[in-house]
Amino acid sequence: MKKVLSGIQPSGQLTLGNYIGAMKNFVKLQHSEQCFFMIVDLHAATQLPDPAALREQTEAVAACYIAAGIDPAKASIFVQSHVRSHAELGWIFTTLSYMGELERMTQFKDKSQGKESIPAGLFVYPSLMAADILLYNADLVPVGDDQKQHLELTRDLANRFNNRFGEYFTIPEPYMPKHGSRIMSLDDGSKKMSKSNPNAGSFIALLDPPDVVRKKISRATTDSGREVKYDVAGKPEISNLLSIYANCAGLTIEEVEARYEGQGYGPFKKALAEQVVSVLEPLQTRYQEIRASGEIHDILKQGAERAAEIADRTLADVKERMGFLAPK
Ligand code: TYM
Repeated sequence: MKKVLSGIQPSGQLTLGNYIGAMKNFVKLQHSEQCFFMIVDLHAATQLPDPAALREQTEAVAACYIAAGIDPAKASIFVQSHVRSHAELGWIFTTLSYMGELERMTQFKDKSQGKESIPAGLFVYPSLMAADILLYNADLVPVGDDQKQHLELTRDLANRFNNRFGEYFTIPEPYMPKHGSRIMSLDDGSKKMSKSNPNAGSFIALLDPPDVVRKKISRATTDSGREVKYDVAGKPEISNLLSIYANCAGLTIEEVEARYEGQGYGPFKKALAEQVVSVLEPLQTRYQEIRASGEIHDILKQGAERAAEIADRTLADVKERMGFLAPK
């Protein structure tokens, strides 16, 4: 059984990109592997969120995990800050990270661009992410394409530690969907679909009501052709919609192309909207039930206890190897 770890930031509404790029694989992997899925509030803190919003979003992401099909009896669901070893190993990895490699992170460059004062937490964000993954000696990390570079750094840090202090960490691999590791914005096929985009028409939120989903998809930008064909360079927007369709319907791209051959964009977009609604509607019903049930807190408590058992042991091993004096 492999170890799997991943996390999502509680910083705004989750999107269909988060679902297709990451959560769908969380649900899949829980059946065969030992899984840990976090709500990464310490990472979200790097964007200085409003306290009430952070609390609400943390619960909302936990409820979305369960609503999407993660079974807390199979996978541990927990809040990052509830397992203290994350912050502590995060610091230790900050001491092992180099300024140069952190400066090269494209997400840091994007998020700090144009800011007069750049929060230091934003800079050392990837060192904490490495700690998240390595605390569980994860073999697989289900993520979207935008996290690949952070994972590469995690692998470098694990190797650096192993070389300096003796073989200890497993070198983790990314686990990504074949199509859909980078779901694009509905209004611009060259930009990633993102919850932080100020234009709400550019993304589909997991909690968007069906009519909003239909409207957003009908307004999605397309090229001036009519052939429903996967061609990322020539038809980026239609290719993106094809990826969304294939992922929501559980079909291959070729099967979707064959289904809409010669039909034009109109019928394809209409059918796509219904596919997305058929995934989101049951998720939304379960979401409301879970929020109303008040079960989340117990689930998170149990998840954190299971996670801490492993994480605390790893942290103790790491500290011993590095020469931190153990308290007597
Ligand atoms: P975050 O919260 O930005 O995104 C959560 C997950 O969703 C994926 N994703 C996408 N996939 C496809 N298309 C998109 N448009 C899209 N937008 C987002 C992301 O790749 C991610 O997998 N640093 C991480 C959180 C994190 C983490 C970790 C992940 C912290 N510690 C340890 C894995 C392991 C982040 O900001 O994800």
